[in-house]
Amino acid sequence: MTSGFFLYRLKGKITKKEEKNMDLKGRNFLKLLDYSPEEITYLIDLSAELKEKKKKGILHDELRGKNIALIFEKTSTRTRCSFEVAASDLGMGSTYLDPTGSQIGKKESIRDTARVLGRMYDGIEYRGFEQEIVEELAKYAGVPVWNGLTNEFHPTQMIADMLTIREHCGTLKGLKFVYMGDARYNMGNSLMVTCAKLGMHFVACTNPKYYPSDELVAKANDVAKETGATITLTDSVEEACKDADVIYTDVWVSMGEPDEVWKERIEDLLPYQVNAKALSYAKKDVKFMHCLPAFHDLETKIGKEIYEKFGLKEMEVTDEVFEGEHSIVFDEAENRMHSIKAIMYATLK
Ligand code: CP
Ligand code: NVA
Repeated sequence: MTSGFFLYRLKGKITKKEEKNMDLKGRNFLKLLDYSPEEITYLIDLSAELKEKKKKGILHDELRGKNIALIFEKTSTRTRCSFEVAASDLGMGSTYLDPTGSQIGKKESIRDTARVLGRMYDGIEYRGFEQEIVEELAKYAGVPVWNGLTNEFHPTQMIADMLTIREHCGTLKGLKFVYMGDARYNMGNSLMVTCAKLGMHFVACTNPKYYPSDELVAKANDVAKETGATITLTDSVEEACKDADVIYTDVWVSMGEPDEVWKERIEDLLPYQVNAKALSYAKKDVKFMHCLPAFHDLETKIGKEIYEKFGLKEMEVTDEVFEGEHSIVFDEAENRMHSIKAIMYATLK
């Protein structure tokens, strides 16, 4: 480790000198396994800096003249809006390709799409299904590709989440972070890797059927050995939530999964609902987080359907917790925009 990095750690934030060394220009942003702890911390710092500029009304349209393409094969509110607002703030143009409005996958392969869009755009966001699709896009595009969510990973969400935790808890290293529910999908996977990278104590608390894969747990453990992080998998809510700093959950059925799985998911995951009892084991000032959208009431079409079929009024989180004093979910949602801006700025500037 260079003396530069020692200084950086000592001060707890990026210095001008290291900022120059932290050159991410031209890099893809596909999963956090590809990024070092220092690079991840740099992106969190840059998000905070750009957030401050936005709040103070300081223009930062430094990427004027550039254009980005936004491919969404799944629906979105936060990610799409974040990319569009962030692009506009940075002075860039953007084109949104919706789940039905392009040739992708139906008449044109990802490899061909990458080679076409790479000629017109300076960067490409992709939200869709398997991780290998976004990796293929990145291989052939010739411009930075940002993963806006795949079945396996949701890396832009990670920078927002870590910025939010740092804003509320003042630090990241050493915190106890508990993920409850479906831990074998994009959110559980990404949070486990991110906590490992940043020296946090990650606990997946769920029915063992929903633990992250052995292969990914092994990778996270390898990272954890270097950073002082720990990875724990448990089906005990009390053990998991004891003294937790952060409790996080996500929907039990993700985009692209068939409706038939709801019954089994509810049976398997209801004991891992984030509710007042789970929070009672945690630290007094525990924070509740959720990437959103969340099923915490009957105000959604799916929420109503589930209520009619299974009699459940709230799912992965109770309305009491979602709306309660521990919840920081809307700060988290806002930070999607600041962090996506940082990721684009760092890889395009
Ligand atoms: N958290 C998140 O990715 O939200 P959207 O699906 O609305 O983009
Ligand atoms: N696991 C969820 C995350 C949504 C942001 C999904 O993939 O639908």
